[in-house]
Amino acid sequence: MRIRDFQLERFFAKYEFNVSHLLSPSDCESWTVSEIFDAARGGCDCMRNLRLSYTESRGAPALVEAVDSMYGVGRDGVVIGCPEELIFLFMNSFLEAGDEVVCISPAYQSLYELPRAIGCDVVFWSLIARDGRWRLDYDELETLLRRRPKLLVLNFPHNPTGYMPKPAEFGRIGDLAERYGITVFSDEMYRGLALSEPELPSFAGHTDAVAMSGLSKGPGLPGLRLGWIASRRHDLISSVLAMKDYTTICNPAPGEVIAEAAMRNIEALFRRNIAILRQNVDIANEFFARRSEAVEWIPPMGGTTAFPRLLTGDVMELGERAVALKSLMVLPDEVFDVKGNRFRVGMGRKNFPLALELFGELLNMGGQ
Ligand SMILES: Cc1ncc(COP(=O)(O)O)c(C=O)c1O
Repeated sequence: MRIRDFQLERFFAKYEFNVSHLLSPSDCESWTVSEIFDAARGGCDCMRNLRLSYTESRGAPALVEAVDSMYGVGRDGVVIGCPEELIFLFMNSFLEAGDEVVCISPAYQSLYELPRAIGCDVVFWSLIARDGRWRLDYDELETLLRRRPKLLVLNFPHNPTGYMPKPAEFGRIGDLAERYGITVFSDEMYRGLALSEPELPSFAGHTDAVAMSGLSKGPGLPGLRLGWIASRRHDLISSVLAMKDYTTICNPAPGEVIAEAAMRNIEALFRRNIAILRQNVDIANEFFARRSEAVEWIPPMGGTTAFPRLLTGDVMELGERAVALKSLMVLPDEVFDVKGNRFRVGMGRKNFPLALELFGELLNMGGQ
């Protein structure tokens, strides 16, 4: 397979571990292994005695059951795996060259790059910033779906804009997909992090949809590399499972044991991280209100990120100065294949106020 570089991941690879501060991460505050086991009230001893044999390809039965209890799709409707791997497996098992795919834009690159690499024709349904908020045109979606694409790819809460549909708009997407017979791939990595909007149901409740989520973002466990897909379309899930034999075959045993402990206490993991996120969003709202001449800020409706526009100077140049002068990583919009002089702000981690303070010092220095 020939595939273009994943621009965001290449950017993170260059800076994430070489600078002191990140303005743009998308995950929430992480945890130690002891914290996870202590919260689940079971010691870490099970790790010492863990036998490092192969594990079940679908995922540890306790994890599959925990995921099924969230979505009610049945055990055969679940596969546990690395979120990014699951996108790869689903796209490759479901799509063929020549298929048309409608994908929200901007988007996490694998959501449209994998279909493109397979030979699909990707058409974007684009978010537009207007009158102080992000908007999607739902009439435009109907026009796109009338062409009967094979797949509609969604991501709510949305990375990087923080957009969420209103419940009625969300309902309309489901109705349109059903009316035109379109399968939906719903990337729900940021589900559970609604801010100004009501929490949305998962697309896994629909008859012809696959929902993907995981432990990386809200729960704050990206180092586990574990998540899941869930669907009532057991045939689609079987195809993903069959293709997994060509990637990882099964999940790492230690990761699954930690994930089981995390899932037993998932509400508490979310509770702490949502408190950090909300506090940081308030700080960001206040910070950018004071700098409206330099940055156009749209508060996130959900998720961990926002995608403001720099009004003075060039965002690439600002990013370079941020690294050189403040050891601060600022993710530019170019890595999302859009060009609007925007950058991503990630508010999920405890140290966000410090990163924002450094960014403020950079703005105060002028020259951008
Ligand atoms: C929208 C979206 N989908 C999928 C992923 C992949 O998640 P993971 O890094 O846990 O594989 C990410 C990660 O940033 C994401 O933002």
